[in-house]
Amino acid sequence: MRHFLTLKDFTKDEILDMIDIAIKIKKDFLQSKSTPLMKNKILAMIFEKNSTRTRVSFEAGIYQLGGMGMFLSSKDTQLGRGEPIKDTARAIGSMVDMIMLRTYSQERLEEFASYSPVPVINGLSDLFHPAQLLTDYLTMIECGIYLLNRQYDSVHIATPKVAYIGDGNNMANSWLMLASKLGFELTIASPEGYMPDTKVVQDAMSFAQISGAKITITTCPKQALKGCNVVTTDTWASMGQEDEKQERKKIFEDYCVNDDLMSLADQNAIFLHCFPAYRGQEVTDSVVEGHQSRVFQEAQNRLHAQKGIMVWLHQNRI
Ligand code: CP
Ligand code: NVA
Repeated sequence: MRHFLTLKDFTKDEILDMIDIAIKIKKDFLQSKSTPLMKNKILAMIFEKNSTRTRVSFEAGIYQLGGMGMFLSSKDTQLGRGEPIKDTARAIGSMVDMIMLRTYSQERLEEFASYSPVPVINGLSDLFHPAQLLTDYLTMIECGIYLLNRQYDSVHIATPKVAYIGDGNNMANSWLMLASKLGFELTIASPEGYMPDTKVVQDAMSFAQISGAKITITTCPKQALKGCNVVTTDTWASMGQEDEKQERKKIFEDYCVNDDLMSLADQNAIFLHCFPAYRGQEVTDSVVEGHQSRVFQEAQNRLHAQKGIMVWLHQNRI
């Protein structure tokens, strides 16, 4: 049995296989063909943090696969009253077929998974947001920006050269994992003191030696954007960092993706953002709403990419 906790645990082929499943299921979805690949299976979705997209996409996704999603907020369950995570994992895991957990530390997620008798999916932790990254690569493929090691229907425009501008948070860490596993170019520009996780960077650098990825970490957004074909960013204050919001606004003010910064990227570059976006902070309204933005295509692709993850885990269980 496999869990989906971080892309670190997956090979390039496994990641691309999940995306291939997503592409196939999306095609069927667009042709109104049903895909009951998880008929009568139950997905429990535990949220210890807020969510819009993750909740809706997993719940709609499992339903469209013939199964059923169960939303569980930590506020309403015994988790919120301090029940140990290992007890919750065994109890819920004995009644459902798969569990998605959105929580704080990666250690808590890993502890939960180690006690769960069914596959566990990371629906976001402080360290990683891997389901989002499969979504982002699926969106890039649809836009013709992909590695040529697999064939896709969309016309190939360019190989990925990604610039991530802003906080070295769970999204930045996840981009490091994706780029280093698949083997593409990624530059992260973050202020001093807000760089991605040191251990994740080390892991990414060693994966890059195998995959041929080119990973650069800088403090300079302009350097990162030069000639890139995907521009992405994320909130300056993630869930759990609300108290730092004001302080971070000052520290990050040169990291706002605005039209001037966008003009440094390739003229055909696309803009991605996992959302929620804070217009006027990490990105301007003009970029989110502009012609290069693919953010709502990206948001909808959560539905399809996560079907790929769920079906793959379901098919690979023992
Ligand atoms: N991108 C993302 O995970 O969005 P939600 O927090 O709304 O689920
Ligand atoms: N970095 C953000 C992502 C939200 C989807 C957070 O963790 O809050």
